[in-house]
Amino acid sequence: MVHGVMAWIDERIDLSGVRHFIAEKGVPVHAQKIWYYLGGMTLFLLGVQIATGILLLLYYRPSAAEAYESVQFIVTQVPFGWLIRNVHSWSANLLVAVTFAHFFSVFFLKSYRKPRELTWVSGMLLLFLMLAFGFSGYLLPWNKLSFFATKVGTGMAGAVPFVGGFFLRLLRGGDDVTGATLSRFYGLHVAILPMLTTALVAVHLLLVQRQGMSVPLLVEQELKAGTPLRQMPFFPNYVLRDLLAWYVALAILAALALFYPWELGDKADAFAAVPPGIRPEWYFLAMFHTLKLLPSHILGVEGERLGVVVYGAVAVFLVVVPFLDRRASRGQRSPLFTAVAVAGLVYFVVFTILGRYTG
Ligand code: HEM
Repeated sequence: MVHGVMAWIDERIDLSGVRHFIAEKGVPVHAQKIWYYLGGMTLFLLGVQIATGILLLLYYRPSAAEAYESVQFIVTQVPFGWLIRNVHSWSANLLVAVTFAHFFSVFFLKSYRKPRELTWVSGMLLLFLMLAFGFSGYLLPWNKLSFFATKVGTGMAGAVPFVGGFFLRLLRGGDDVTGATLSRFYGLHVAILPMLTTALVAVHLLLVQRQGMSVPLLVEQELKAGTPLRQMPFFPNYVLRDLLAWYVALAILAALALFYPWELGDKADAFAAVPPGIRPEWYFLAMFHTLKLLPSHILGVEGERLGVVVYGAVAVFLVVVPFLDRRASRGQRSPLFTAVAVAGLVYFVVFTILGRYTG
């Protein structure tokens, strides 16, 4: 049956190129091969987000008057609505965590070195998009915590020099966080970000397929010395391993959704007192805590403003890392960039923990 359908399609659009590609594609086998699974896991969780997000969309209402009530309706009245919302919330957090893990693993392995610079750049933009998904989605249930956290978060955007005021009003749809902000965040979350993400994931995966998987520098040196490359067939050997990992991830997601339901909290109220312990999602905590620790003025410049500028510079630095690390592109070790990655990882972990427990 499947064979017949394939033959029918093959007669109309020649699939021999695709068949040949799948039959020939191999995945390198070496001590670091475990890290190859993270990109596929990111892709899987993104798929879970799209599927559950579309289901939530059928009942969610993006207005200040109805958003909170519609989420309440989803989790109490809609059959399996609670499961879909819990999986969407948990999977969002796992997605960001796995994207960070993928980012750090390719950083440490220097997979960004020539000729994979553009794979890195597209990946880095995807990481920013994942963070934007998290930031915009946080406000959608329109509860107290997300309302006030969005006030603080968009306030930080206002600290960007020169264009901060414009940026703040663009995000909020006015001077304050209101129903207009909710409409904008909704548009971002369900239309603009998915569109950009789809395009970038397509570019990212196309590049990965064109170039094949990189091997660590050490393995590359052995290859140059004449050691043959050990590979495993992509189909079915590697695909089956990927599927197994996704199956385990699905089981973990289901367990989390069942045993740790995502809280909805109280409905947002612009006139209520700011509740204690306002903080953003965990992946913004390091930045949030750093900005909080800065003195009000540094060398005559507002501390928060300076912090936001430094964060912007770090983001630009991360995008262009492959073009700065020339040693790695020449196939040499580049301890300076390894040190940068270690420092970044330690800073991120320590400040996230500090932000969580001392904020
Ligand atoms: C939505 C986010 C992302 C998705 C869906 C995704 C997906 C993938 C997949 C499926 C692979 C092939 C398997 C693997 O090497 O793990 C891959 C490879 C790669 N990704 Fe990503 N990725 C994402 C984000 C990122 C980020 C944030 C970076 C780093 C800035 C990045 C950089 C790379 C690089 C350099 C490779 C090539 C690795 C090699 O050839 O060894 N990706 N990605």
